This record gives sequence, structure tokens and C-alpha cells, in this order.
Amino acid sequence: MPLISISFFICVSLSFSGATTGLTFNNIKVIVSNGQLEVASKRISCNNLLEGLQISETDYDSIQIGEYIGTKQTDLDKINGNSGTLSVLHKQSLTGLNLSSLRISYTDLEQIEPEAIKDVIKLKKLAIEQNLLKEVKKGVFNGLPILTLLLSSNEIQVVEPGSFEGMSELIIIRLAYNKLTELTKNFLSNLPKLQLVDLSWNNIDKIENGAFENLPDLKVLFLERNWIKEVGDRFLGHLPNLRELSLSFNKMQEFHSNFVTGTNNLRHLYIDNNEITEVSPGFLGNNHNLEFLDMSFNNIKEINNGTFSNFNIIELDLSHNLIQHIERRAFTNLPKLNMLILSYNNVDKLDPAILSEIPANATINFRKNIDVLDR
Ligand SMILES: *[C@@H]1O[C@H](CO)[C@@H](O)[C@H](O)[C@H]1NC(C)=O
Ligand SMILES: *[C@@H]1O[C@H](CO)[C@@H](O)[C@H](O)[C@H]1NC(C)=O
Ligand SMILES: *[C@@H]1O[C@H](CO)[C@@H](O)[C@H](O)[C@H]1NC(C)=O
Repeated sequence: MPLISISFFICVSLSFSGATTGLTFNNIKVIVSNGQLEVASKRISCNNLLEGLQISETDYDSIQIGEYIGTKQTDLDKINGNSGTLSVLHKQSLTGLNLSSLRISYTDLEQIEPEAIKDVIKLKKLAIEQNLLKEVKKGVFNGLPILTLLLSSNEIQVVEPGSFEGMSELIIIRLAYNKLTELTKNFLSNLPKLQLVDLSWNNIDKIENGAFENLPDLKVLFLERNWIKEVGDRFLGHLPNLRELSLSFNKMQEFHSNFVTGTNNLRHLYIDNNEITEVSPGFLGNNHNLEFLDMSFNNIKEINNGTFSNFNIIELDLSHNLIQHIERRAFTNLPKLNMLILSYNNVDKLDPAILSEIPANATINFRKNIDVLDR
């Protein structure tokens, strides 16, 4: 692995991995194979943009920063700011790059101006994590052909409406560990290929109806570890492929009856560690293929007839609630039930009639209730 260092330039370091790589630096073409590459330029200091620009991952052959260095000198100065740290990515800072993966991490980056990352040819994965980004502005990401957009671990409080519009290739978006407080209508909408959304570990306390709208391929939605007290009765709009929804560790006390109407294919639903007091028949909508339902660590007091009937549930966890009463037909017609967890509740006696509704080979965990059940 050659280490190239051009002596009259000041050091800038880029980390590389991948196949043989060509780098055009202001008309100097540098070919490297796997490993570290150090390139230097008088016009970029060590604390400049490239300090925080780690180009890793494979899948590219050529990176051209030449134009950028050669003709966008002033932009670079602006990026650099006076402090020598990267705090703003200005308009058209990253034009003319030809790479598939771009990572900016552990910098002081606070702001990305619209069109900063314009025309990064072939960019598939963009990771701007572990920075100080405060806002996502419309015009930064729109229209970029990115597949994976990683924005976790910043300080993002605001996402301007429409910020992700037109990202027709987007498959994964992660915004975990930020400071978002509210998801408004169309927060994510009309993204035909989107499959995974991670919004965990934010300060979200409210989700408006239609926040997730028309995401025909969305499979996984993580909303755990927020402050969600309430979700709109139709906060999930047309998500026919949603398989997994996590609302664990929030502050929900109740559901609207249409809480999951936009979905009919959920397999895994996690609502554990909330403050739910009541569940009523129908709250799971048409998700009859639901397999795993975790409602442990809530404040549910009672389970009524029909609440969990006619589902393909395999495992149902209702442990660590305040359940005192279970109606006889609470768990009827659960042909696939394998595990029913009722431990840590206040049921003083489990009516044998309830048990007769449950498949004979299913395991029931009834520890730490008043009754002790031999089964
Ligand atoms: C981008 O890099 C590829 C090689 O991976 C090259 O074939 C293509 O011409 C480059 N595109 C531009 C616009 O430089
Ligand atoms: C629940 O079902 C049982 C058995 O069919 C019935 O006796 C009971 O009255 C029902 N409870 C209510 C509130 O309808
Ligand atoms: C219980 O029995 C049913 C058929 O009676 C079977 O389909 C299912 O796989 C069994 N479950 C377990 C956990 O053995």
C-alpha cells in the first residue's frame, strides 16, 4: 500500500478501504490500493473539511475532489470558518465528488446548507453521525439518489417539512439519538423504496396523523425510547408492508381505536414499558398475522373477552402489569399460541375455562401472581 505525501502540501488524511482506488487531486492522480492514503495540499489544512470527511466503504473506483480543491477555494475557506473546525457545510461544498459512500463523523458540524451535497455522483450511502447538526433543512437531501441516510447521534431538533421528499431510492433512514420533539404530517411520505426508519432515543412526544404516509415498502419502524404520550388515530398511513413496529419505552396511556389501521401485516409489535391502562377488543386492527406482541411493563388491569382473539400470535407477553381480572374469552382462537406470559400480575385465580381456550401445548408463565399454577 503506497503512502503518498507531497511535501509542499500540508497534511490531510483520508481513510480508505476497498479495491484499487484512484484519486484525482487537483489534476494529480493518485492510485492506491487498500489502506491508508495521505494526501496533502497547501490549500487545505489538517483541521479543514477533510479532517471530518472519512471516505470508507468500498464500491468506488475513483474519487475526484480536484474541481473542488482547484476551483472552489473560497468555499473551502468558508467551510473551514475561522475556528479551524467544520461547523457549516455551505452550498455546493460537495459537488463533483464521484463516490458511493461518504461519512462525516465526530466533527463540530452544526449546519448543512441546502445544496451542499449536490451532484455527488453515485452516492449511495451518506453518514453524518456523531456531529452537532441541529436542523435538517429542505433542499439538502431532496433528489439525492442515496440508499442509506444515517443522521443518528446529532442534536437535530427540527426537520423542515419536505426534507426527504423526492428521495426515490432511499431504503434506510436513521435519526436515532437526536432531539426531535414532534413528528408532523408527512414527516416521511411517498418514499417508494423506504424499508427501515429509526427514530429511537429522541424526545418525541407527539406524532401527528399522516406522519408516515404512503411508504409502500416500509418494513421496520423504530420509535422506542421517546416521550410519546399520544399518537394520532391514523399516524400510520398506508404502510401495507410494515412488519415491525416498536413503541417500547414511551409514555403512552391509551390507544386510539384506529391506532394501527394503516397496517395489516404487522408481525412484531412492541408496546412494552409504557403506561397503558386499558386494552380493548379491536385495538390491533386487521393485523391478524401478528406473531409477537409485547405489552409487558404497563398498567393494564383487565383483559376483556375478544381482546386477543383470532390472531396468529405465537408469543404474547403481558407480564409486569396490574392485571386482576381476565374474562373467560380473552384469549380465544389463538391457534398458533406458543407462549403466554402473565407473570408479575395480580390475578388471584386463573379460571380453568380460560385455559381451555388456549392450545394445549402452549406454555403459560404465571409466576408471581397470587395463584400458583401448575402447568
Ligand atoms: C465516476 O467514476 C467512474 C469509475 O468508478 C467513472 O467510470 C465515471 O466516469 C466517473 N464519473 C464522472 C462523472 O467522473
Ligand atoms: C365473556 O365471555 C363469557 C363466556 O362466554 C361470558 O360468560 C361473559 O359474560 C362475557 N363477558 C362479558 C362482559 O360479556
Ligand atoms: C402445538 O400443536 C399444534 C397442532 O396441534 C402445532 O401446529 C404447533 O406447532 C404446536 N406448538 C408447539 C409449540 O409445539
